[in-house]
Amino acid sequence: MVTEKTIELSEEEKFAKLDEIIEKNQGQEGILINVLHQAQQIFGHVARKVQLHIAEGLDIPFSKVYAVVSFYSLFSTDVRGRYTIEVCTGTACYVKGAEDILEKLKTELEIDPGETTDDGLFTLETTRCIGACGMAPIIKIGDNTHGRLEEDQIPDLLSKYE
Ligand code: FES
Repeated sequence: MVTEKTIELSEEEKFAKLDEIIEKNQGQEGILINVLHQAQQIFGHVARKVQLHIAEGLDIPFSKVYAVVSFYSLFSTDVRGRYTIEVCTGTACYVKGAEDILEKLKTELEIDPGETTDDGLFTLETTRCIGACGMAPIIKIGDNTHGRLEEDQIPDLLSKYE
């Protein structure tokens, strides 16, 4: 997750921070994964230019960095919001109105699933059953789960995240 502190950094400052991390981790085992993980925390994603910067900093081929980023689903090459909203569209949630919840989120945020709001705050996604059907319909915002939601509650709920 992008922290409050890192999202305020300029791109130049983010790259400077990444350089510090690369420097600090030189020679350590699993350095590439570790650096990529921290880069994702700083930038919110690991875009091509971040991968190139890491390859150069670690003095390894870009193809090696790219291969790791492509292999592990935890790494994202797209710009991500500070919070990912996951709307469960599993059967129980669907029956309890997940579609209305999703529509309301799309309207409030003015984005479709897979997109990020212009202010960089939210990325909207749908997900399959997350195993809490008793609380349907459910959405997750970052690490927080919100259950038995009604669409009218969405604006208030979103306003708590900044
Ligand atoms: S269907 Fe949504 S939590 Fe199971």
